[in-house]
Amino acid sequence: MDKPSTTISDLKKKRRMNALISPTLHEIKFNEFVLFILEKKMGTTRRAFLMELARRKGFRVESELSDSVTHIVAENNSCSDVLEWLAGQNVGDSSRFELLDISWLTECMKVGKPVEAIGKHQLVAKVSSSASPSDCITETPPLATKEVSQYACKRRTTLNNCNQKFTDAFEILAKNFEFRENEGICLAFMRAISVLKCLPFTIVRMRDIEGVPWLGEQVKSIIEEIIEDGESSRVKAVLNDERYKSFLLFTSIFGVGLKTSEKWYRQGFRTLDEVKADKSLKLTKMQKAGFLYHEDLVSCVAKEEADAVYLIVKEAVRAFLPEALVTLTGGFRRGKKIGHDVDFLISDPESGEDEQLLPNVIKLWEKQELLLYYDLVESTFEKTKLPSRKVDAMDHFQKCFLILKLHHQKVDSNRSKPPPESKTHEAKNWKAIRVDLVMCPIQQYAYALLGWTGSRQFERDLRRYATHEKKMMLDNHALYDKTKKIFLKAESEEDIFTHLGLDYIEPWERNA
Ligand code: CTP
Ligand code: MN
Ligand code: MN
Repeated sequence: MDKPSTTISDLKKKRRMNALISPTLHEIKFNEFVLFILEKKMGTTRRAFLMELARRKGFRVESELSDSVTHIVAENNSCSDVLEWLAGQNVGDSSRFELLDISWLTECMKVGKPVEAIGKHQLVAKVSSSASPSDCITETPPLATKEVSQYACKRRTTLNNCNQKFTDAFEILAKNFEFRENEGICLAFMRAISVLKCLPFTIVRMRDIEGVPWLGEQVKSIIEEIIEDGESSRVKAVLNDERYKSFLLFTSIFGVGLKTSEKWYRQGFRTLDEVKADKSLKLTKMQKAGFLYHEDLVSCVAKEEADAVYLIVKEAVRAFLPEALVTLTGGFRRGKKIGHDVDFLISDPESGEDEQLLPNVIKLWEKQELLLYYDLVESTFEKTKLPSRKVDAMDHFQKCFLILKLHHQKVDSNRSKPPPESKTHEAKNWKAIRVDLVMCPIQQYAYALLGWTGSRQFERDLRRYATHEKKMMLDNHALYDKTKKIFLKAESEEDIFTHLGLDYIEPWERNA
């Protein structure tokens, strides 16, 4: 087929190029502003893009720092960074410029006209980045970084991550080391991620992280690279790594861990389609379910779906034990809006413990055709045993890992909207959801709740803190005081924090 000689996109491209070359092509609407966009820490391409955009919206943007410039817009620069740069420009009194953060320009672009430059936009001894969440402190960290505890259980970590740019990079590196079964380095990166998540400001220069624990030389060099170049070459290399890419695919299947991934990788498989195509492969029951519901399971659970599952679980449990407590735990209890599964803790104050509950719930759901997969694990708890010494030990509660069929209608009715009519009878009107049910005796409820709320890093550090700072042993069942040789009773999570001599940390502050 012949291509038309000039397409609309060609024309647009030409116009864009023209705009870059000859700024006067755009009508200037806002004469009181003469902008200069600082290239430092922004890069040529992004600067050119922003200049073009602003000009198109009717702003006057100078390419050079001419006498007429009134406003300087910078990104990822603190006030002192800009002043330092200005000092080298030989422009005389730099106080005549208004120094603004990129967030000001972004807002102007959004509404197509200048917005008032208020405090948050002004670079007055401030560091700010348009990408940082609004709750991040934008003042130069005063800082107290030396007071950031090495223990996640002594830090308050909300979901407002000011340093996602860095933590995302480290998550990739940590995963890569996990895939290579290099636990030491993996843990080092996890600790760095965890501590970065609690900082209330965005890191813009190395000085900001002086005294912060768990940031070793390796971690620091990557942070520096990201500050300077906006990305890390090591992360880029990992993202292109064949083993990493295959392991990421394989482990996305429910029931596939490092061992199976390693085996498949050695056998030469690289994609899930290649694995699926090999009919001679022996899959476990769990992996079969994993492949069958893969698409639903990787799409993540939304809070609305978790709430709908909560109603289903509560109804089923209460059918057998009307007084039972059913508590949403895991990430959703920490306030997350999405998760990979939905976790519940169940306990019955009346009977103390009921081994028949989970089997009964399973039978009920099977009858209702809601159960797509389940694995019931019986309790292995022994009352006399001391809490486990391992930081990552599995607990001994009776539990059930399952995949539940959640009808869309249940989610929609929860949102109090009328359910959408299914057009054809074949249309799938449900989603497979991973659910964890844990049954615990009421005396251990507080410990189980604390243990199952997470995050994993928070739990690890609670145990590490108990062992190293308090000579106590903590797990999901109990807290043992080694000096006094007694088990400490707790009715609530607050009691446990008190036993450990820790300030209470709310569930939504445990996103370490
Ligand atoms: N947990 C545990 N023992 C297990 C599995 C989980 O003690 N065998 C605890 C962990 O402390 C974890 C919490 O239960 O923090 C929830 O586990 P999980 O569902 O894997 O993680 P979430 O934090 O809920 O994250 P996601 O949103 O991905 O589900
Ligand atoms: Mn979970
Ligand atoms: Mn879980």
